[in-house]
Amino acid sequence: MNRKLRVALTGASGKMGQESARAISDQPDLQLVGAVSRSRAGDDLGAVIGRGPVGLTLAPTLSALFETTGADVVVDFTRSEAARENIAVALSHGARPVVGTTGLSPVELDGLDRRCRNLGLGCVVCPNFSVGAMLLGRFAREAAAYLPDVEIIELHHQAKVDAPSGTALRLKATVDEALGASLRRPTPIHSVRLPGLVAHHRVVFGGPGEVLTLSHDSLSRQSFMPGLITAVRAVMTFIGLVTDLAVLLEMGKRP
Ligand SMILES: NC(=O)c1ccc[n+]([C@@H]2O[C@H](COP(=O)([O-])OP(=O)(O)OC[C@H]3O[C@@H](n4cnc5c(N)ncnc54)[C@H](OP(=O)(O)O)[C@@H]3O)[C@@H](O)[C@H]2O)c1
Repeated sequence: MNRKLRVALTGASGKMGQESARAISDQPDLQLVGAVSRSRAGDDLGAVIGRGPVGLTLAPTLSALFETTGADVVVDFTRSEAARENIAVALSHGARPVVGTTGLSPVELDGLDRRCRNLGLGCVVCPNFSVGAMLLGRFAREAAAYLPDVEIIELHHQAKVDAPSGTALRLKATVDEALGASLRRPTPIHSVRLPGLVAHHRVVFGGPGEVLTLSHDSLSRQSFMPGLITAVRAVMTFIGLVTDLAVLLEMGKRP
């Protein structure tokens, strides 16, 4: 039997980190070999994710984690400044990063793709692991071909630090590309930050006498887990950077 894929997690104490720790631990083919949290370093991961002791002590940094264990994949849900460092540390240890953290620029992603190709390693940076959000982009591209007047609204919980969201920026790029020569102005993005929200995106198209609203709601962070788990498995199968969840899902279908 093949050995389990060894996964390390950074940002384990955060909202996405906790959800990811539970999801990774529940996969029969994945082994969560280590997790990082500055604020909870030294604690057992189980205490952080609402489970009993799991025998895994949180490390203060990814470098410290690698002093005691190896990993095939490093999953990162932190902040962009921490993600940059975690990606570098992961690659220097031959581990493949799967990054959900938002805020990395297109120029940085180009550089990361080159670095990964030079190292012969795969990497995923995906601002939204939700399958529904990926489909929203696909449907928005189709609608933009017929309705060129469009605006984007993104609504998130008040603790989200970056605005606009990485998903909204990607929706804008998709719509602008689909509009091509019909693009009359940069597609506006409106950001809302309120308690009670999780992650919500609207693409609103206006035409004479009609409005078409495409909308997607992540009601809980579980919505990101099937895509994340697919990415963790897929990243072992290619070299270079993949940012498109649709590409990862196609890879996941291959026998
Ligand atoms: N790709 C997706 O599908 C998806 C979905 C939702 C959110 N996100 C993104 O994922 C990231 C994390 O979101 P979240 O809601 O889990 O955030 P969060 O609850 O604030 O968690 C982030 C964690 O990162 C750790 N961290 C490490 N270095 C940090 C630094 N320099 N500054 C702040 N925190 C640092 C913190 O833990 P310690 O202090 O204990 O180290 C914190 O618990 C964000 O970029 C968000 O936009 C992506």
